Amino acid sequence: MQNRDHHLLTLKDWSRERIQETIDLALQLKSDLKTKGPSDRLRGQTIGMFFEKPSLRTVTTFQVGIHQLGGEAIMLDPESIGLGKRESIADVSRCLSRWVNAIVVRCFKQELLEKLAEYGSVPVINALTDEFHPCQALAFGQTMVEHFGALRGRTVAFIGDGNNVANSLMILAAKTGMNFTLACPKGFEQPADLVEYASPIFAQNGGSYRVFNDPKEAVRDADILYSDVWVSMGQEEQKDSKQSHFLPFQINDSLLALAPQGCMVTHCLPAHRGEEITDAIMDSPRNLCFEEAENRLHAQKAVMCQLMQATLPR
Ligand code: CP
Repeated sequence: MQNRDHHLLTLKDWSRERIQETIDLALQLKSDLKTKGPSDRLRGQTIGMFFEKPSLRTVTTFQVGIHQLGGEAIMLDPESIGLGKRESIADVSRCLSRWVNAIVVRCFKQELLEKLAEYGSVPVINALTDEFHPCQALAFGQTMVEHFGALRGRTVAFIGDGNNVANSLMILAAKTGMNFTLACPKGFEQPADLVEYASPIFAQNGGSYRVFNDPKEAVRDADILYSDVWVSMGQEEQKDSKQSHFLPFQINDSLLALAPQGCMVTHCLPAHRGEEITDAIMDSPRNLCFEEAENRLHAQKAVMCQLMQATLPR
């Protein structure tokens, strides 16, 4: 396998400098699109897109982003490929590496992504697994820089399940000197080994990590509240048992009133209005979730430029 930072498997593999450079490049690509139009940074390159789970934002922003950079996206059909059933993951990855210049993967198990990276020779980009969602975290970072000017010293309070989005936000926060607060019901914390991994990185970069079981405590010093669905994709059978635990963790006017003035809100999307977030907050000018959704496009273009080392004239 190439060095792990030749891929985007998890932000654990990326240095603080690489994360910051990617956010800066995303901001530049967004501005360039408005002033200069599409570019040719990925001209002649083909990116395979393998999605085992549903998607609106990720599948669309990768396809549009690749088009805006002059490359071509091709959709790979998981049913037809039968990864690990019709053919081994290793052989599929070796073949794909002979045809495409990168592979964007949304799948259940992180291990599948890791194996594609291990046996192939082209960059593999994590478009969401059960454990991580690094592209979402980078788009969040870009949105924070746009709104607050910088990441260092800012506090994000994630209100809900300690899930894949929370995990990637925590790593981004640890590496960029942010404070990360999780508010969740007991038993829905992030994996202990991930917290153990991130704790010294928070300390090294001047940030902090806290967990509360009372969301009212978590929002008091927050710059931004982060919301996500209570039941992640593929865990729908847990809906009834989970919902009763999470009812106090809804982002609504009463909760936001306890946060500092100027505290913003965002959401990974799709939102379940009336569950983890109210209509009023979703439609409020304090909600940056649609800016973050827009930034998925530019953050992912920046990821592809970083990994595919585009050398063509700009
Ligand atoms: N936030 C996100 O990844 O959206 P999709 O599931 O629609 O891609």
